[in-house]
Amino acid sequence: MPAWGPRPPPPRPLTPPDPSDPDPAPPPAEASPARPPYLDHQATTPCDPAVLAAMAPWWNDQFANPASRLHRPGLLAAAAVEQARGRLAAGLGLALGDGPAGMDSQHWAVVFTSGATEANNLALKGLAEAELTAGGQRRHLLTLATEHRAVLDPLRYLACHGFRLTELAVGADGLVDPAALEAALQPDTLLVSVMAANNEIGVLQPLAAIGALCRARGIRFHCDAAQAVGHIPLQPAALGIDLLSLSGHKLYGPKGIGALVIAPGVRLAPQQHGGGQEGGLRAGTLPVPLIVGLAEALALALADREPRAARLGALRDRLWAELQALGGIQLNGALAPRLAHNLNVTVAGVDGTALHRALRRQLAVSSGSACSAGSPSHVLAALGRSRAEAAASIRFGLGRGTTAAEIEAALAVLGAAIQELRG
Ligand SMILES: Cc1ncc(COP(=O)(O)O)c(C=O)c1O
Repeated sequence: MPAWGPRPPPPRPLTPPDPSDPDPAPPPAEASPARPPYLDHQATTPCDPAVLAAMAPWWNDQFANPASRLHRPGLLAAAAVEQARGRLAAGLGLALGDGPAGMDSQHWAVVFTSGATEANNLALKGLAEAELTAGGQRRHLLTLATEHRAVLDPLRYLACHGFRLTELAVGADGLVDPAALEAALQPDTLLVSVMAANNEIGVLQPLAAIGALCRARGIRFHCDAAQAVGHIPLQPAALGIDLLSLSGHKLYGPKGIGALVIAPGVRLAPQQHGGGQEGGLRAGTLPVPLIVGLAEALALALADREPRAARLGALRDRLWAELQALGGIQLNGALAPRLAHNLNVTVAGVDGTALHRALRRQLAVSSGSACSAGSPSHVLAALGRSRAEAAASIRFGLGRGTTAAEIEAALAVLGAAIQELRG
C-alpha cells in the first residue's frame, strides 16, 4: 500500500452525447466511404505496415509467455523482449545493464508499460513513494501548467497526499523560461516534470537547460516525451533526464504499449504489484507482439525522421501561410521551436462548436487533446486564450501519410467553413 494511502482521485464523468446536437458526428466507414484527410496525428498515428509485419509472428505462431523459462518457446519470447528492449535503448543513445529490465547500478533501464500514461504514473508516484519509504525529506514537485493530464493528474494526486506541487506558468509562446523555473525550485524539490513536446501546440521545451538546473541540485528530472520520441533528436543522457516516458501509438507503433526509461541509480516504488516482471517494477505478463512492434516502430521512425520532418515542416508552413491569408487566424504557441508536423490556430469571429461541426465530416482535426475531449483546453487557457477562443481553435497534426493534396483539401474545407460562419 502506498505510504500516502490508497485513495485515487474520483474518476471524471464520461461525456454523454449532446442530445441538443442536431448533427452528431457520423459513424465513420459506412457513412462516408471516402476518408476525410486525417490531420490528427498528435492524437494517434496509424500502425506502420512494417510494424504490423514485425509483430505478426508473436501473436499466434510464437505465442509463449516470456516468463516461461523452462521451455524453448518461452525462452524465444523472452529473447525477443530483450532484443526489443536493447533496440529501444539504442534508439535513445543508451546502453542497458545486465540486470532485470536492463537495470543495474551503472546502466539505464527500460521498463515496458501500457503507454505513456502508465509510464508517467510509475515515474511520478514511484519516485515520490520511494522518497517516503527511504525516509527522504523532499516534498516539493514542480511541473508546467501546460503538461498533459497524464502528468498533471498523478502530480495532483501526490499533492493530496503530503507533497506540494507548483504548476508553473508558461509564456504566451507556450515555452517555460528556465530562469523562472530556477526561481520556483525549493530546497526540498524532489522532482521536476517537463514534457519534451506539447501535445496540443507542439512547442519544444528547453530540456537541456532544465536538466542542467536539476542535475546541479540533485533534483530528479522526468520528461514526458510521448510526442517527441521518433520525431525530434532526443538523447536523455545528454539532456540530464532521469526518467523518460514514451508511447508506441504516437510514433506509428501499436496502441497499448509504452515504456519508462530510467537513469542509473534512480529508485522507484512499483505502482503495480503481481508476478514480479520487469525487475519487480511493473507486474503483468509482457505483451510480446506490442513490445516487438514498439521497438520496430522506433527504429523506423528514427530512420525517416529527418526527411519526414523536412517534408511535413514544409507542408505545415504552407498550411500556416495559406491560413494567414484567410485573415483573423492566430497562431497558438511559438512557431519555433516546435514539432515540424504540428500547427495550432485560433479562428477569430466564429463559434467554436459551429466551426468543428462544419469541419468534422470533411476533415479529421481536433480542438485540443484527445484525452480531454469535451473540456476546454487547459493548454490554450495557459496561453491566455479565452474559453470561446480555445473552442474556436484547431490542432493540425500532420503525419507520415499526409500529402500536399490533403493540405489543399483541408484549406479548401476550412476556407469555406470560415467564410460561411463569418457570414
Ligand atoms: C504528451 C502526452 N503524454 C501522455 C499521453 C498519454 O499516452 P498514452 O496514450 O500512451 O497513455 C499522451 C497522449 O495523448 C500525450 O500526448
